[in-house]
Amino acid sequence: METNSLQADLREKLFKSSAKCIDISTSYKKSKSSNQRKKSEYTRKSAPKSKYDDLNNEEREEELQKVKAGISQRVLFTPEQCRDIEKKIDKVVKLSEMGIYKKHTVDRAPLRNKYFFGEGYTYGSQLEKKGPGNERLYCKGDVDEIPTWIHRLVVKPLCEAKIIPEGFINSAVINDYKPGGCIVSHIDPFHIFERPIASVSFFSESALSFGCRFSFKPIRVSKPVLSLPLPRGCVTLLSGFAADEITHCVRPEDVISRRAVIILRRVRDDAPRLPPVIQTDSPSRKRTKEKGNHADKVEVNRCNYFSSSSEDEAGKREDGYDSGDAMRPVKVNSKVKVICLSDGLPSHNSLQRKDI
Ligand code: SIN
Ligand code: MN
Repeated sequence: METNSLQADLREKLFKSSAKCIDISTSYKKSKSSNQRKKSEYTRKSAPKSKYDDLNNEEREEELQKVKAGISQRVLFTPEQCRDIEKKIDKVVKLSEMGIYKKHTVDRAPLRNKYFFGEGYTYGSQLEKKGPGNERLYCKGDVDEIPTWIHRLVVKPLCEAKIIPEGFINSAVINDYKPGGCIVSHIDPFHIFERPIASVSFFSESALSFGCRFSFKPIRVSKPVLSLPLPRGCVTLLSGFAADEITHCVRPEDVISRRAVIILRRVRDDAPRLPPVIQTDSPSRKRTKEKGNHADKVEVNRCNYFSSSSEDEAGKREDGYDSGDAMRPVKVNSKVKVICLSDGLPSHNSLQRKDI
């Protein structure tokens, strides 16, 4: 309840702090035509200008064709398949709220949360040195592995449909947007990610906008060169010009109700990584380790190097199998959480890292 009012408050701040601005947090409840009227009003009254606004019709059309050439889309997942995947996304949210994931797996913001699996990287305000090109991968093992359900329910169908090659994906990110949530204009860093970039949309339809400029307080977005519909269950592939030469974003006015996307990418073999910070053990930790404490074994396996700020993460988790419903966390000591499996698996299995 408190969270809801905080979100409403934030949306209000974002969208109502100027008389010109439209309150999109409530407009989605109104009729479609009223919605559309509000949208165009939003653009007309308060949008900043982008470099594309100076193009004449012919130049704009040329740009549009180049963007379109780098996009392919297909509605691959049925509503039933979507429902199954959405349940899994909900489970990820629950596990994250339980504090099960590693620190760099989860990035929370008021209107959107991100969950990084397989690989994670520094971006936005996390960057020590700001600006594109400065993104760095976290150390291997600093984020959780790609859950088996993502491989089974999402990646496998994409490979079977020959949309992406087998074994290509080594990074999966879930973005979970609340109404009014957005992702500002960006290009997925090409020194980090191979192309194509694949994504699959869930929960509700939204749109990916190309070539927009954002301005803030209140948040406003320029007219897109292209606003690409993203229906539920739809796979979108970006490559070429669409991935490399023009920014993409999700505008707040295009997130009418909760929406999630699973972004599937391949991290380049030569992508730069943050340098490892070597953990120096305190004498008491060394003693525990020598005694063969399970949690410490897990911790050592998990990450030979800790980032300096992840001490609070040490040995925090052991996670379970795909049968997420059967899991419950048990507090073993103040630092360690263990996931117990109630599906009759032998207890020694609880020490093997498995995906959720
Ligand atoms: C992104 O490119 O970061 C997000 C795209 C989406 O939400 O579909
Ligand atoms: Mn992107």
